[in-house]
This record gives sequence, structure tokens and C-alpha cells, in this order.
Amino acid sequence: MKNQEKVRKYCVCQKKAVTLRAFFYKNGKQERKVTIMTSIEVNGRVFDEYVSAQKIAECVKKVAERINTDYAGKKPLFICVLNGAFMYASDLFKQIELPTEITFVRLKSYEGTATTGDVKILNPLTVDVKDRDVIVIEDIVDTGLTMHGFVKYLKEQGANSVEITSFLFKPEALRYADAEPKYIGLEIPTKFVLGYGLDYDEMGRNLSALYVLRDKR
Ligand code: IMP
Ligand code: MG
Repeated sequence: MKNQEKVRKYCVCQKKAVTLRAFFYKNGKQERKVTIMTSIEVNGRVFDEYVSAQKIAECVKKVAERINTDYAGKKPLFICVLNGAFMYASDLFKQIELPTEITFVRLKSYEGTATTGDVKILNPLTVDVKDRDVIVIEDIVDTGLTMHGFVKYLKEQGANSVEITSFLFKPEALRYADAEPKYIGLEIPTKFVLGYGLDYDEMGRNLSALYVLRDKR
């Protein structure tokens, strides 16, 4: 019931999406219009458009090109980290021109008593990673805790190599050096973002652009 309420509220909120446009007139006739900013309200918080769907597509294409070059002659195994990376993985994987396969994993990270951190694999991997060249597909690397634990696990399982591709990377938030992604779509400041698979309280994953939480004014 609580979930239903949330969804309903979100639908209402989506209708409240605000687009700021500038209209240019010449001799009383509209010549062109320019979209200045689109904002959206999700669960009571306002997010402003940050990266357009077109720009996202350009970033993903660049990553795919680099991976195609770097892994020429190899047969990498992609592991998509659910839920957040599903949209990025879908767009990226379509552009991989290598003999390749993909599998999916759900992770839960938590800070242990030590600073090493730990990660729990919620659904066991169905593909053997031993001797494989693994590329982990993440939505965002923030502190790096999740990737730090998962990379360690894959190496323990005998992977030949492990690299990370993350659609987003917050370099200023990184606390685990081994979690730094090799293939990055976009570097962003330490701000909260949603859309393109990333959520705020499970909402907003369906948005095709990326939005950033508006600072309190
Ligand atoms: P990390 O373990 O601190 O690197 O955090 C990784 C996870 O936190 C990501 O896979 C996301 O699920 C979540 N996360 C971190 N920053 C954001 C954000 O700005 N928006 C949405 N989710 C985020
Ligand atoms: Mg994630």
C-alpha cells in the first residue's frame, strides 16, 4: 500500500516537470525557442536537468569505442551491477563489437568495523569468472566501497583481469583507490543525481536525461 502511494505521488510529481524556455521573436513572429532548463520534482525534492540524453549517448559511445579498441582479440565478460546500471549496460553493450557475454549481479555494500568495507553478493554469479577478462558495469562510483569489495571478490575467484566501467564517477568522493573506474562516461562533482537508471528512493530510474538535486536556497 505504501509503495502504491509512492508511485501515485510520483506520477503527480512528474506532471509537475517544469521546462524553462526562452522564445525569440522578430517582427512579432516567433523565430526560435531555446530550452534553458528542465526541472522535475521527485518525492518532494527538486532536480534540475544536468546532462541531456544526447550528451549521455555521446559519452557512452566514446566508452564503447575505447573498450572495443582495448579488448580487441579478447572475449571479455561484462558483469552489470543491478539495479542502477541496467540502462547504461544496455546502451553500452549494444555498441560492443567483440565476441562477448554479459551477466548480472546485485550487490549490497556495508562498512565493516575496519575501514576495508565489505560487499554482499545478493544473487550468485551464474558464470565462472576464472581466467576471464572481466569488465564490471556500474552506474556510479561514489566512495568506491561497493566496487572495492566486488573487485576483490572477482580476483579471489581467479579472474584474469578486472576493470570497471562506470557511467558516472565522483572523484572527490573516492575513498578506495582500487575502485577507480578505467572507463568513465562522465566525471561529476560530489552531488546527488538521478535518472538514466539511477534512483532517488527507487524513483526516477526511467528518466532518459540525468538530473541533479537542487541545492537548498
Ligand atoms: P559507493 O559504494 O559509495 O561507490 O556507492 C555506490 C552506489 O551508491 C551506487 O551504485 C549507487 O547505487 C549509489 N549512489 C551513489 N551516489 C549516487 C547518486 O548520486 N545518485 C544515486 N545513487 C547513488
Ligand atoms: Mg550501482
